[in-house]
Amino acid sequence: MGLAKKVVLITGAASGMGAACARLFAAAGAKVVIVDRNAALSEEIAQATGAGAPLVGDVSGSSFCDGAVATAVARYGRLDILVNAAGIIVRADADHTTDADWQRMLNVNVSGTFYMSRAAARQMKLQGAGSIVNFGSIWGSVAGRGHVAYCASKGAVHQITRAMAIDHARDGIRVNAVCPGEVDTPMLRQGGRDQPMSDAAMVAMADTVVPMGRVAQPEEIARAVLFLASDAASYITGTLLPVDAGYTAV
Ligand SMILES: NC(=O)c1ccc[n+]([C@@H]2O[C@H](COP(=O)([O-])OP(=O)(O)OC[C@H]3O[C@@H](n4cnc5c(N)ncnc54)[C@H](O)[C@@H]3O)[C@@H](O)[C@H]2O)c1
Repeated sequence: MGLAKKVVLITGAASGMGAACARLFAAAGAKVVIVDRNAALSEEIAQATGAGAPLVGDVSGSSFCDGAVATAVARYGRLDILVNAAGIIVRADADHTTDADWQRMLNVNVSGTFYMSRAAARQMKLQGAGSIVNFGSIWGSVAGRGHVAYCASKGAVHQITRAMAIDHARDGIRVNAVCPGEVDTPMLRQGGRDQPMSDAAMVAMADTVVPMGRVAQPEEIARAVLFLASDAASYITGTLLPVDAGYTAV
């Protein structure tokens, strides 16, 4: 896929799909920059992938995001790919969503994606090339019961993707999103524990709502991210790619 020596900054790289992306891009020969707020897990992934020191902080702050891109460029001279995997979920209907929940959701999922993408696009514009892959969701396109703030945040990520794609198409920057369905990550399992439900019961319940009858493994989403990020997708921008085993085809 031509990833050798490409410089890739991945947010949310300490866990779940971000970590799967870090492993896959590193295995493809890319230079990976790990960004996450979880210091201990970031260090583990950095060691496992041979990445340099992880950049630990909160993507909902624009100065942290500007600094993360500047550090990647200082380290490797350029930034070819940004993957925005950092995200959180609030499992509540409107009645049970507090002001703080609502704001936290928008700060991380929407502002975090926007601040990182803006910082990356400024650098990519100077280079005349670059690729951004955001993490949307099935619930950015169709609604999930009891997740109003999350659905709103992912709908916004979808529109950031499209709007930046058309704004920067002539700067040589492609902007796309993967829209996963149910994926077996700590985020999904935590949803079970909150109910409370065992990990196995939560995964089994998620299996039943997916047309293919099983949840995804994080690596299955990472492969779609790698495709969109790579030159194999050179004519693809502004796309929201469902990687959902048919969930949104119903
Ligand atoms: N798991 C699913 O079923 C599913 C489905 C569709 C979309 N998604 C989306 O995929 C992305 C990855 O989710 P996952 O399931 O791998 O989750 P995860 O909880 O396993 O990993 C998310 C990572 O993001 C980091 N993070 C969270 N907030 C941050 C912040 N403010 N600053 C920096 N890092 C932060 C966490 O520390 C964690 O390492 C998220 O955007 C999520 O909304 C997940």
